[in-house]
Amino acid sequence: METVLVTGASSGIGKATARKLVEDGYTVYVAARRAEKMHDLAEIGAVAVQMDVTGEEDVRTVVKQIEAEHGGIDVLVNNAGFALWGAVEDISLEDARYQFDVNLFGLARLTQLALPYMREKGKGTVVNISSMGGRIWFPFGAWYHATKHALEGWSDCLRHEVAPFGVDVIVIEPGGVRTEFGDVAFGPLKERSAGGVYGERILGMMKRIEGSSRPCGGPGCAVTCSRAAGRRSRSTSALRCGRGSRPSRAIPCSRWRSDGRSRSRRSTHPCSRRPAAPT
Ligand SMILES: NC(=O)c1ccc[n+]([C@@H]2O[C@H](COP(=O)([O-])OP(=O)(O)OC[C@H]3O[C@@H](n4cnc5c(N)ncnc54)[C@H](OP(=O)(O)O)[C@@H]3O)[C@@H](O)[C@H]2O)c1
Repeated sequence: METVLVTGASSGIGKATARKLVEDGYTVYVAARRAEKMHDLAEIGAVAVQMDVTGEEDVRTVVKQIEAEHGGIDVLVNNAGFALWGAVEDISLEDARYQFDVNLFGLARLTQLALPYMREKGKGTVVNISSMGGRIWFPFGAWYHATKHALEGWSDCLRHEVAPFGVDVIVIEPGGVRTEFGDVAFGPLKERSAGGVYGERILGMMKRIEGSSRPCGGPGCAVTCSRAAGRRSRSTSALRCGRGSRPSRAIPCSRWRSDGRSRSRRSTHPCSRRPAAPT
């Protein structure tokens, strides 16, 4: 069975994805900074490792451990991420750089370290959890959108680079999914911007978001999508799910593992809905 590394598995989409992959029989490594939040996954058979995706030493250590124990990573699920919300004027460049470190450079480094094994094996999958915010935008989300838009372009380029080696790069574009994501994003936003010149508009936007909060039933929908990540498309390798995400185009699919010859079918993800119009 293939070996999977899921980052950001202490919560939300990453945790739910890891749980499902364990149930499906994969050898699953789970990583996050809060190792204590992954005990439940360790109990069902995952190997939990503490890792900050922005830490070179951490990232190297985890990849080396997996190489020593299983040869390497067959499927890398780059899920760890967060959203830095606020007016561009209110966010320091230091914070903005950190947003890029977590959402782009961290996963880029991990991918660099994982690829040699996949190339040599002639097979492998990199799943990048982007966002519907990697294609569209909402006000006061400039830095978050910048990272996710960058991730989309980065993933598309990488896909072409590694395809001749049998390695696939898949992008998932969740819409609203009920996780810790909102607390991490909107808690600091109030502190950062509420009293400033953009405060009134930001509070208004938050009110609208809270008022219309009907996420699509928790991280399960994104898990379905992540599992579907093995389903490829000749026309697109992006899959969408969650509240507000764009309606999925019909995607010709094959299975997660590249051995899934006969499971080709067309699929539209049921969680997809129309995007909320940016205000
Ligand atoms: N929820 C949504 O509505 C939504 C929508 C679109 C896209 N997404 C994307 O989905 C992904 C997962 O988010 P989620 O909704 O599941 O949010 P979440 O519940 O807040 O989970 C985020 C995960 O990322 C990890 N993480 C954050 N910074 C990290 C770092 N420096 N090093 C290692 N791990 C780090 C966190 O673990 P530790 O804090 O323990 O390190 C946590 O496990 C993100 O990439 C997010 O952009 C989410």
